[in-house]
Amino acid sequence: MSENDLRRSELLQTAVKAAKNGGEILRRYFENGVTMRDKSTDGGKTYDLVSDADLESEQAVAAIIRESYPDHELLGEEDLKGGDANAEHLWVIDPLDGTNNFAHHLPHFAVSIAYYESGVPIVGAVYNPIREDLFTAVQGQGAFENGTQVRVSESSSLNQSMIGCGFYYDRGDMMRATLNAIAECFENEIHGIRRFGTASLDLCQVGCGGFDAFFEYKLSPWDFAAGALFITEAGGKITTATGDTLPLETTSVLASNGKIHAAMQDITTRHTLPK
Ligand code: IPD
Ligand code: CA
Ligand code: CA
Repeated sequence: MSENDLRRSELLQTAVKAAKNGGEILRRYFENGVTMRDKSTDGGKTYDLVSDADLESEQAVAAIIRESYPDHELLGEEDLKGGDANAEHLWVIDPLDGTNNFAHHLPHFAVSIAYYESGVPIVGAVYNPIREDLFTAVQGQGAFENGTQVRVSESSSLNQSMIGCGFYYDRGDMMRATLNAIAECFENEIHGIRRFGTASLDLCQVGCGGFDAFFEYKLSPWDFAAGALFITEAGGKITTATGDTLPLETTSVLASNGKIHAAMQDITTRHTLPK
């Protein structure tokens, strides 16, 4: 094994250990119950929840990464929001992706962890602690579900495709834009639309071939950092909704098996909100 491969395998081991530790905390809270709080600070409705489970999971993930890589930068959704996304050695963490599912006792949520080097995704791990489903990817080495290599689907047209989507915490224009894009997908005789509520797992589903494509008009880096690498390592494509290179910042996302990307991009572009 080359020195580079050894280093990447150590990075992956750290990501997996951290994802499983965070996941174990989530599983415990999921079984025993936890109080959810609205993230709104002004008493308004955001539908964006947080709990001790999110915070404890993030602390556990951070502690494991810092043990092996004390000099690396951490960017996470909760207490680690201030992390520098441009750092040379960067870990991007969603300690609980699918918070609304978690709050409603739907067993579909995950810990998502990615390591980026100078803006390039090197390692990704997404872990659903209830199904004990682990999705991993290392740059240049493929995408794996529980150790088995996976690939995107082969569908080459929207007809008969299965499309995943997500709604940002918005009940206004962005919600309507998403609904309009969904309506146009249906006009193309797709097999179905699914909204499972955990972006990191949705993206992994594109990599595994369950979804032929996925889109959402607003996601944060921690939602897609690991899933983006998983998709490209599985042979797929991921861009913004208008086909631009995905930045490591809040952005729209369009992911696909590559073959139906242009057809989906026509739809998601048509309904994108003006900046
Ligand atoms: C959310 C989930 C959801 C997506 C939202 C995300 P959270 O993350 O990934 O599927 O539609 O846009 O914010 O808040 O559960 O970590
Ligand atoms: Ca998230
Ligand atoms: Ca989260």
